[in-house]
Amino acid sequence: MFLHLRPEKDLKKLLTNSLLEGRIKRKGCGAPLLFVCLAPMAGYTDVAFRSLCAGFGASLTTTEMVSVLGLMHNSKATHELLFTEPNESPKEVQLFGSNPEAFSRAAGHPFLEKFDIININMGCPVPKVFKQGEGCALMANPELAYKIITACTKNTNKPVTVKFRLGLTADTINAAEFGKMCEQAGAGSITVHGRTRQQGYGGRADWNEIAKVVRAVKIPVIANGDVCCRDDLIKVKEVTGCAGVMIGRAALGRPWIFNEILHGGGSGPICITLFPNITGYC
Ligand SMILES: Cc1cc2nc3c(=O)[nH]c(=O)nc-3n(C[C@H](O)[C@H](O)[C@H](O)COP(=O)(O)O)c2cc1C
Repeated sequence: MFLHLRPEKDLKKLLTNSLLEGRIKRKGCGAPLLFVCLAPMAGYTDVAFRSLCAGFGASLTTTEMVSVLGLMHNSKATHELLFTEPNESPKEVQLFGSNPEAFSRAAGHPFLEKFDIININMGCPVPKVFKQGEGCALMANPELAYKIITACTKNTNKPVTVKFRLGLTADTINAAEFGKMCEQAGAGSITVHGRTRQQGYGGRADWNEIAKVVRAVKIPVIANGDVCCRDDLIKVKEVTGCAGVMIGRAALGRPWIFNEILHGGGSGPICITLFPNITGYC
């Protein structure tokens, strides 16, 4: 059973509105709008880097992962992760943890007021996180994952989104069922990294598996993994039918990739968001 999204929780609408409010979109290409987002990367996507990427055209920026427990303890390190710049818009905060009550309190925390979207990390493969039942471990515990998502949606009016992987191993891929669960719990959109936990960051991202998730849900799906240029973007859109992509490592040391994707070579019509302040960096 699919839940109908409340309009204010619809990420697509939120992003579209933000485009209408002062952002320009490429005209006349006749292709569907694609969101090209910066992926969260702990240790890299701090406020300075995110602001740079937003300036080069990223449709959405997301903080590094923020512990819901750290937020409760009001730690200085957590506070610093929540710094933002005005040109990051829309901006998403990424939370991780495993306790629904802590997520509920985090979702309503005043420190998150400036963010447009709350994202939940259910894809982190790092042993330290996994052993606590957090990050990707939640893919093996969909009941708890459901409780976490609903705990957030009940305590905020912001859209709640989820980022996860294909599953834990090649033999236990469950991304499509997990995506349906997220949708039923009230997630406004999902981002799928096309690798399993076992793969870490090696091998190729499997866009065909992401396509299965797109077919399984009605909410927007952001495809993630190995999108490094405009041709990749066109290909991943063709293969998956995704609403947008998230670019991670290809943006490291190359934050202008968002501009390149917009103006660079490659074939096929594509309509991508363009931010007015992009000229500040050209
Ligand atoms: C150094 C590093 C840190 C990352 N930190 C996070 C994180 O905090 N939260 C998250 O959801 N994903 C994190 N990721 C995963 C990326 O968001 C992305 O899913 C992954 O790199 C695949 O996309 P890519 O092929 O475009 O790099 C991290 C990846 C890297 C390489």
